[in-house]
Amino acid sequence: MSIANEDLIRAATEAREQAYNRYSHFAVGAALVDEAGRLHVGCNVENAAYPLGSCAEAGAIAAMVIEGGTRIAKIAVVGGSGEIGPCTPCGGCRQRIAEFADQDTIILAIDDSGEWQEYSIEALLPASFHLP
Ligand code: THU
Repeated sequence: MSIANEDLIRAATEAREQAYNRYSHFAVGAALVDEAGRLHVGCNVENAAYPLGSCAEAGAIAAMVIEGGTRIAKIAVVGGSGEIGPCTPCGGCRQRIAEFADQDTIILAIDDSGEWQEYSIEALLPASFHLP
């Protein structure tokens, strides 16, 4: 059922290669495992109208939802460089992840040398907004 960190990171790294990042030149890949052990991936997709660009996490979450997934067990985000260190999800994506996370959800932030840091959603987005 569970996928090893290394395998999830590999999937995110492969997804990152598909990034459509012609404006920022910053490529991001995300891979997540849902509650049923299914893998879903996404990459950032930018747009000439800059605010319309979407993050890698958003793509992976949309792929999970269309397959019937409801919870993120673990999500890996690959991006960045040695300069910025591991690519943590942006603020909006923290809220996106929180929608489908619980206290056991693991978030892996990986830099392009393969080093990673591990977070809970509570660590990344304390006191997050939820509706009942
Ligand atoms: N980006 C992501 O895909 N995920 C994040 O969590 C951080 C930022 C993308 C958005 C944009 O295409 C590029 O990285 C630079 O911000």
